[in-house]
Amino acid sequence: MSLPKQVRLVEVGPRDGLQNEQQPISVADKVRLVDDLSAAGLSYIEVGSFVSPKWVPQMAGSAEVFAQIQRKAGVTYAALTPNMKGLEAAIEAGVKEVAVFGAASEAFSQKNINCSIAESLARFAPLLEAARVNGIQVRGYVSCVLGCPYEGEIDPEQVAQVAHELFAMGCYEVSLGDTIGTGTPGKTRQLIERVGRRVPHDKLAGHFHDTYGQALANIYASLLEGIAVFDSSVAGLGGCPYAKGASGNVASEDVLYMLNGLGIDTGIDLDALVDAGERISQLLGRANGSRVARARLGR
Ligand code: HMG
Ligand code: MG
Repeated sequence: MSLPKQVRLVEVGPRDGLQNEQQPISVADKVRLVDDLSAAGLSYIEVGSFVSPKWVPQMAGSAEVFAQIQRKAGVTYAALTPNMKGLEAAIEAGVKEVAVFGAASEAFSQKNINCSIAESLARFAPLLEAARVNGIQVRGYVSCVLGCPYEGEIDPEQVAQVAHELFAMGCYEVSLGDTIGTGTPGKTRQLIERVGRRVPHDKLAGHFHDTYGQALANIYASLLEGIAVFDSSVAGLGGCPYAKGASGNVASEDVLYMLNGLGIDTGIDLDALVDAGERISQLLGRANGSRVARARLGR
């Protein structure tokens, strides 16, 4: 199969990246990150989460962040919402796009959102209905698609089932999350082939954490399967608080560099993205997690 001509990168750094940071990060610093990312040409930015502050304290200021970002025309600013309470808070904050997040693993579902897979889907259905009434688009996530920190191997059929249910209830796109980064390219292709029988390929996205260094290879494998939307995190920020040892998402800069090399259009400026990633890395006192950024910055 030929490669897609265009790819949409979903920048999850401000959410998936920062949610795991223990140190306080000010609203102003989060706003600056989001604005730097939109200035670099990202057209989709996950800004924060409307979740329980007891579960993920770092995302508590998300409404303030939404209030202060400079909304650029053509950019989607999204938030995670696990339940109706989250959706209501998102609507209050003027959010126009949200994401629900389920899992292909029962144990992970319990640890992450304190309910079973079936309960989570039953919780999402009214949320999707309320979102539709309010003109809000909903994206769906499935976690642990290529392995679970608690259950190990995950049956691709289980992933396909959950992805199908999210799509059937109205998620316009389903992002397949390799939460702990254990996937490899062959398994990634098999997974997409299986899930693609239940959800059209052009409604699927890939969300690869880079814990085992496989993320770029898995993205390339996904491109070969016709996937054209990928989630990534500037400077490779992050991890999941309920998946111990999970490192950040694949670095946006590294994905962009690969896509540029393949002649695939994204509309994103690599230099501006590198600057945004370096700025937040320095602020957090973290080594920049992007290999491309480190090379460009001469480290
Ligand atoms: P629960 O304790 O079962 O919820 O948590 P509850 O409905 O029983 O409510 C308990 C308390 O939480 C109550 O407050 C509620 O008001 C409050 P209290 O009376 O105790 O003061 N509450 C909320 N507060 C703010 N916003 C809300 C909300 N809902 C309830 N929306 C719940 C269930 C889902 C709320 C909790 O488990 C939670 O917030 N989990 C979020 C976990 C999370 O954000 N994980 C990280 C994101 S997922 C991820 O990173 C994976 C992904 O990147 C893909 C991948 O990599 O695979 C997407
Ligand atoms: Mg993630």
